[in-house]
Amino acid sequence: MFVLVNLKTYPCDPLEVARAVRDVNDTTDARLAVAPQAAHLERVAETGVETWAQHVDPIDYGSNTGHTLAETVAESGAVGTLINHSEQRLKLADIDGSVRAAERADLETVVCANNPAQIGAAAALGPDAVAVEPPELIGTGTPVSQADPDVVEDAVAAAASVDDDVSVLCGAGISTGDDVVAAGDLGSEGVLLASGVAKADDPEAALEDLVEPL
Ligand code: G3P
Repeated sequence: MFVLVNLKTYPCDPLEVARAVRDVNDTTDARLAVAPQAAHLERVAETGVETWAQHVDPIDYGSNTGHTLAETVAESGAVGTLINHSEQRLKLADIDGSVRAAERADLETVVCANNPAQIGAAAALGPDAVAVEPPELIGTGTPVSQADPDVVEDAVAAAASVDDDVSVLCGAGISTGDDVVAAGDLGSEGVLLASGVAKADDPEAALEDLVEPL
């Protein structure tokens, strides 16, 4: 299972969480990675943890003030990027452009979507993975795998009907090892989570609990 920890703009110490993700990764067969804010990418990557960006823009080098260029993200040490997170929604054409920009920079891609229909559309753009996250469950602590298992199974079917090579992750409210196991049982190859780790008093203990049953 792939466990991708999105730090959003939570006021956690990105280096503390990064070191915890790195250390717990070394104790498990699961693959763990962290997605800090863009300004923290380089320092986080220097810890040796697998580092992801939260977003890249559908742009190339040039006059794009305030944008995030995929090549710069890669130079900062990131190996992948989220695209179209529910908190950073893009138009379809821009999702396509961001996937292409990430590919150009050799970044792995996870395109987020709200529901199975959008997952099908996202999968058609050829990312490495898609992640289904019902927005109403984000940050609630109520796991999507429990509150809405159909949405995960339908997302897996929607992606497979478009492109078998696109993996499916799920997210929203995931915070325990049981949630991760349930996500896997529904056909998901990984989870995308944030508050369960970024807002935990002890991020390392939270991560240990997440991977314990894997
Ligand atoms: O990107 C992860 C996400 O939106 C889910 O957040 O806090 O419900 O784990 P959370």
